[in-house]
Formats: sequence, C-alpha cells, structure tokens
Amino acid sequence: MTRAAIKASRGLKRDFGEVENLQVSRKGPADFVSTADLKADKTLREELGNARPEYGFLTEEGAEVKGTDEHGRRWIVDPLDGTTNFLHGLPHFAVSIALEERGELVAAVVYDPIKDEMFTAEKGAGAFLNDRRIRVSGRSALNSALVGTGAPFLGHGDRPIFLKEVDAITASTAGIRRMGSAALDLAYVAAGRFDGFWERELSPWDIAAGVLLVRESGGQVTTIKGTAFKLDGDSILAANLELHPSLVKALRAARDS
Ligand code: IPD
Ligand code: CA
Ligand code: CA
Repeated sequence: MTRAAIKASRGLKRDFGEVENLQVSRKGPADFVSTADLKADKTLREELGNARPEYGFLTEEGAEVKGTDEHGRRWIVDPLDGTTNFLHGLPHFAVSIALEERGELVAAVVYDPIKDEMFTAEKGAGAFLNDRRIRVSGRSALNSALVGTGAPFLGHGDRPIFLKEVDAITASTAGIRRMGSAALDLAYVAAGRFDGFWERELSPWDIAAGVLLVRESGGQVTTIKGTAFKLDGDSILAANLELHPSLVKALRAARDS
C-alpha cells in the first residue's frame, strides 16, 4: 500500500509543480488537475491490482470493481484528496488507501507527498507517522482544543447548520481549521495535531483510511450525534476519548439553538 501511494504521488508531485504555471491562464488548471487525478487513480489500480488481483476496488474516480476474494477484501481509494488545494497551488493534499475485509477496516495509508508524511495503520497494531508511533492528543479541555472541519461549498451541504456549529465551536475552543483534505484532517487527529474533527456528507474514500488511523491511535470515531459510525453514513466526528463527549454536546447544543 505504501509503495502504491508513493508511486502515485510521484506523478501528483510533478503535476503539482505544473499547476502553478497554469494558474495564470484564463481557463485555469482544472482540466489538467482532473487528468492528474485520473493518472494517480490508474497507477493505484495497477499497483494494488497487480499485488492483489482478487480484491475489490472502490475509488472516487470510476466504477467500483467487485472482487472475488473469499474474505471479501477491497481497496477503498482516493487518489487525490484535497483537489481544490491542488488546483489552487496549495501544498496540502494526500493519497488515501484503505483495506477493508468483510466490511471492517484493517489497514490504512494516507500519504502527503509534499511534506513526505506517510501515515499508516493496521488493525490491532497501532498507527504510525513514517516510522514513529502516533497517539491522539491528551487534551481534555474544550477551551484548549484545536478542531478541524470541512465547510459546505457551492451546491453542497447545509450552510445554516454548519454556521451554527462553527459559531459554537469557535466560541468554546482554541480554534478551528478548514484545511481542505478530510484524509489529512483525520490523520492529524491521529497524530495529536488536531484534538477533534467533524464534517458532513463525506464519501467512504475520503475517510476510510483516516478512520482506522484515528482508531489505532487511541481515538474515537462516531457520527456528529455520537452514534455508531458508518462509512456510508452522512457525518463523522473524531476526537480523543476525553474530548469526544464535550464535542458531541457542544455540536448538539449548536444545532438545537
Ligand atoms: C474533499 C476533501 C475536503 C472535503 C470535501 C471532499 P476531494 O475531497 O476531503 O476536505 O471537505 O468534502 O470532497 O474532492 O478533494 O477528493
Ligand atoms: Ca476526497
Ligand atoms: Ca479525490
């Protein structure tokens, strides 16, 4: 999985270098970026498919491939998470690869090629950043917490609810961040950089790897309401165990206000 992520990232890094040159053209780099995205997807399909031809494959780019594996294993892949950042020349994006077995997440890779940060996790074996073991943060007080989120954008999401939540969380924490890559947001919770993260309407490929990273670093993942998390559900809240209940409460109070 790490080899596949690195290989796909080589092309992404090269293409990211070109994006800056394309910013000045009126049409902008949009078409170029979607080609970069598709190229990375193709590399991942080839690399992962060659290594494990029987596994299924779910990706943001293109049709799902049903596998023939007797253990029901499939890859869940986002070749480029943080496309808007990439498109605007912002160096914050990642390749995200998760391995699922009979509906359970068992291995994860989130790779940030610009910072050369490889986040990995295996079910029951912990989470790592490059070769260093990572843990969620130990901050338990809401007023010292830094919380990541994702904002609705043109044609997506429920702005009124989001704005209420942002109002409540900015009023009660040390700050919020909207970094633009859900995969890295979750990796940052796993590494203790963020104390929590919430977002709605994400897709399985945005979060599959990140969810395992958080779990394996000692954190908790639920819906925003604090109920059982589902990969194809409509919201996610991740945090360390101490902070998680306070975030559920603060977000609920915001919605009810
Ligand atoms: C997006 C990023 C972003 C989130 C969006 C996702 P993409 O994925 O994860 O942080 O807020 O909802 O769609 O489009 O860059 O792969
Ligand atoms: Ca994504
Ligand atoms: Ca994507």
